[in-house]
This record gives sequence, C-alpha cells and structure tokens, in this order.
Amino acid sequence: LQHYTHHFQPAQEANKPTLLLLHGTGGDENDLLNLGRMLSPGSALLSPRGNVLENGMPRFFRRFAEGVFDIDDLKQRTVELADFLQAASEEYAFDAHQVVAVGFSNGANIVASMLLLRPESLAGAYLSHAMFPFEPETQVDLQHRPIFVAAGRSDMLISTENTQRLINLLEQQGAEVQAYWNNTGHTIIHEEVREARTWVEKHF
Ligand code: MLT
Repeated sequence: LQHYTHHFQPAQEANKPTLLLLHGTGGDENDLLNLGRMLSPGSALLSPRGNVLENGMPRFFRRFAEGVFDIDDLKQRTVELADFLQAASEEYAFDAHQVVAVGFSNGANIVASMLLLRPESLAGAYLSHAMFPFEPETQVDLQHRPIFVAAGRSDMLISTENTQRLINLLEQQGAEVQAYWNNTGHTIIHEEVREARTWVEKHF
C-alpha cells in the first residue's frame, strides 16, 4: 500500500459524506482543508499529499509537460490512491460508500481518472479546473454519482473545448453533471465555492 502524508479530521456530525481533498501542483495536504469545511461543515476530511515530486512540487501523478499527462503513471497512481482511500476508511472507520472527492487542478485530474477506473470508490465528485483524462477502455457506470465541474473561461491551462470534452465524457458514462463556468482563470473564486456548496447540500 502506498504511503501518503495526510490529514484526517473526523466527522463532527453524523450522516455527512467524507470529503477526499486533493490539492493542485505544488500544494499539500493543508491547502483544501478550509474549502472542505466550507463545502460540508461537520464532514470528515481526508486530505493526502501527492507523492510525486516535480521540481520539489507535490503532485498526484507524473506529466511530460504542462497539460500532457503520463497516462500509464496516472492510471497506476489512481489505483494506488483508491486503495489508500479504502484502507483509510477501515483505519478511521468512515463509510467507504459515502466519499465525495474534491479536487483542484492536478488533484481534480486524478479524481476524473478515479471516476473512470474505480467509480465504486466515490459517491460523487467536485472537479475544480480539471482536464479531459483519457478515453476509458470500457463503459463505466457513473449513474447516481453526481459530479460538479467548475471551469474558468480565461483558464490559460485548460481550453473551454477541453472542459466540454470532459463533461461529455462523464455524461456518456451516465453521470449527472452540473457545470459551473465563470470568466476567471485557473483559480477558485468565492462564487464557485458557494455554487459547489449548494450542490453538496442538494446531493449528499
Ligand atoms: C496537471 O498536470 O494535472 C495539469 O497540468 C494541471 C496542473 O498543473 O496541476
């Protein structure tokens, strides 16, 4: 089992989903804790640090260049992350069927991959500034796994076409996708958080 430096904060309220928080390139396990609190007060939070280093910057998988993924590495590390999540649910005694992933940028990209390779490990997902990962080899059943996709029309890293391809891919696998667009770049603004929070309250 792969080791991840991580934070776990136990639930303060019953019947709330556990949030799996996955930071962007150069971030760490502290980055999304406040976001997690805002999205779902009282939820347990599991926040690992990506164990790939790119010039000292933690990530969740390797890339050849900005926006060019090492797909083999992505797939292998996706399975490792799903295994870590499963093991953590046993160690910390949270319900493995009530986990909602929250990822930003590189973290969101590995969530997209997890939805395709290990869909059963997530009850839903919030992808903030994610990219199209890869075409799955077989059809995946994402019905009843709601997904919130947030994107910026001025994102220098991700074109609107790429985001639309990601949304189409998820919908083709049966997911109910709620897309939220704003005019900013590769960043999370308050309005996005408010929209995402409303989405969490509605579905979980
Ligand atoms: C990635 O490599 O996952 C994307 O380029 C986004 C990022 O820079 O983290």
